[in-house]
Amino acid sequence: MLTHKIVLLSGDGIGPEISEVSKKILLKLSDKFNFNIEIEEELFGGIAFEKFEDPAPKSTLDKCKSCDAVLLACVGDSKYDQLPRELRPESGLLKLRSDLNLFANIRPVKIRNSLIESSSLKKEVIQNVDLVVVRELTSGIYFGEPRGIIKNKNKERAFNTMVYNTDEIERITEIAIQIAKKRNNRICSVDKANVLEVSQLWRKTVENMAKNYKEIHLSNMYVDNAAMQLIRDPSQFDVILTNNIFGDILSDLAAMLTGSIGMLPSASLNNIGPGVFEPVHGSAPDIAGRNIANPIAMALSTAMLLRIGLNQIQAADNLELAIDKVLSKRFRTSDLDDGKSEIISCSKMGEKILEEI
Ligand code: IPM
Ligand code: MN
Repeated sequence: MLTHKIVLLSGDGIGPEISEVSKKILLKLSDKFNFNIEIEEELFGGIAFEKFEDPAPKSTLDKCKSCDAVLLACVGDSKYDQLPRELRPESGLLKLRSDLNLFANIRPVKIRNSLIESSSLKKEVIQNVDLVVVRELTSGIYFGEPRGIIKNKNKERAFNTMVYNTDEIERITEIAIQIAKKRNNRICSVDKANVLEVSQLWRKTVENMAKNYKEIHLSNMYVDNAAMQLIRDPSQFDVILTNNIFGDILSDLAAMLTGSIGMLPSASLNNIGPGVFEPVHGSAPDIAGRNIANPIAMALSTAMLLRIGLNQIQAADNLELAIDKVLSKRFRTSDLDDGKSEIISCSKMGEKILEEI
């Protein structure tokens, strides 16, 4: 029987609660679809800092590099805000992305019919939304040098660098093109080419690449306009291709179209090694330990792990269907409260999903 090796990083905040749900889901699916799954849990984020004074310990990174896929919950807590930047849980996450060379972050945003009423936007605006944000993840202003804070006598000066090389833009564009070809062949590349040189290079490179694919319809949009269009008429988008920081911001924005950021999964990939599958949301320390978090974004990330990371398509389909069924039976965690549904806990939501598998 096929055995898949998964590393599970449950991280901080609500991480352990939502991880518990995904762990049970994976085991049940492996049983049903006849494959073995070995889940190894490793410390990562704030909890790893507590033990090793390092949010991304080498032992954890090594395990991640040698498994089939990594399932990550979330990291971070305000209690680490005072730490030097490189020791903060978020820096651990950036190190994981960079060490595994996960340059492509895929964030699908699809409206589930059963959740249309949970969005803060009108039904007419969101009903046909089905888009993917393709975010460059290992370069741009997140990683650019020089960066730092200079202390002068009476003032401080802080600076970061937004930087892209042609090859970095090309490889993420290639990913967006391949995704668009399996969808509706439309790519909207989002930049700020009216102000930033780095966006001018971005636009030129994306346009050059798209010319090689006659079936691809490429459009360009400034990021401020894209933010507006995502609220005004989100169903105009198919694939949104953008840089690291614009993708970070626009994907949170797009998440709210689906009713709650607690619904959005993601995959961080390269062309060769294991991918990292994680919800888009953070660790929500304010609700941690109360068993009220929404485990669905992580469960949907688990479905992406099955589909993309392990090629277990049937199991992935089954899981997504199970989640749809639970939602259409009007069970919700409190973030999705629409006044007409039964509000259940995180673990109860897990049980409901398991029942439908
Ligand atoms: C995300 C998160 C991270 C990011 C943080 C936690 C570093 O917001 O995955 O979107 O900014 O990339
Ligand atoms: Mn983010």
